[in-house]
Amino acid sequence: MSRSSVAVRTVGGPGLYFFASALTRTTSLITICHRKTPGQPWKNGLVPASPQSVLYVIACGGPPAGRVGEFVRVAQGLGWDVAVVATPDGAKFLDIGQLQELTGHPVRVNYKQPGEADVLPPADAMVVAPATFSTVNKLVAGISDTLAMGLLNEAIGLGLPIIVVPWPNVPLSRHPAFGRSVTALREWGVTVLYDPENLPGRDGDPATFPWEELAVELGKHS
Ligand SMILES: Cc1cc2nc3c(=O)[nH]c(=O)nc-3n(C[C@H](O)[C@H](O)[C@H](O)COP(=O)(O)O)c2cc1C
Repeated sequence: MSRSSVAVRTVGGPGLYFFASALTRTTSLITICHRKTPGQPWKNGLVPASPQSVLYVIACGGPPAGRVGEFVRVAQGLGWDVAVVATPDGAKFLDIGQLQELTGHPVRVNYKQPGEADVLPPADAMVVAPATFSTVNKLVAGISDTLAMGLLNEAIGLGLPIIVVPWPNVPLSRHPAFGRSVTALREWGVTVLYDPENLPGRDGDPATFPWEELAVELGKHS
């Protein structure tokens, strides 16, 4: 079976209710209840083949990257074998040693050297959280100037499921290229979790990165 046809796992069995402890900003945890439905297809209608599919969590250069480890635990609870990939700027926000211990995989940042073997298993799906203004626009332009971009561009070409969570500040969100990029990604079948009313740099209440919504979205396909 091709990689693009592997999308959903059956870990947990029919009727299992999975209670994922997910993230809030101030309190430690809230509970998300998601009923697992084995065999539920992604948008492309394909069904799972692997008992533990691989999820790449790609972290870009913004403060929410510092909480990727908490999301990794949620994704693992949903049955995914998770590997973290960071952009060079995203890596500045990460505790790489902790993430490697948590996932059992190296945290990849740079392209491998010629002749080196791949160290990560191939991905069945990808999450980009946070996705910076820069990465969102580069993705639509097909630019592979970092390992993360190369993996994402390949994933689009393969038709893998991708969830992108853009996190520009308010001025960047109003840049005309950004809106076009979000629209294009959605047209290509990428799931984009984006609320222009909840962004860093707004007056009033501080923005809250939508980890909970992301966990729910991932849970639909787990
Ligand atoms: C402290 C700090 C916080 C930042 N926060 C954000 C952010 O929340 N959203 C964003 O789009 N860019 C943010 N940036 C800018 C990006 O890190 C910068 O555009 C970088 O080139 C993005 O690279 P990447 O997309 O490869 O991770 C921040 C930069 C710094 C230094």
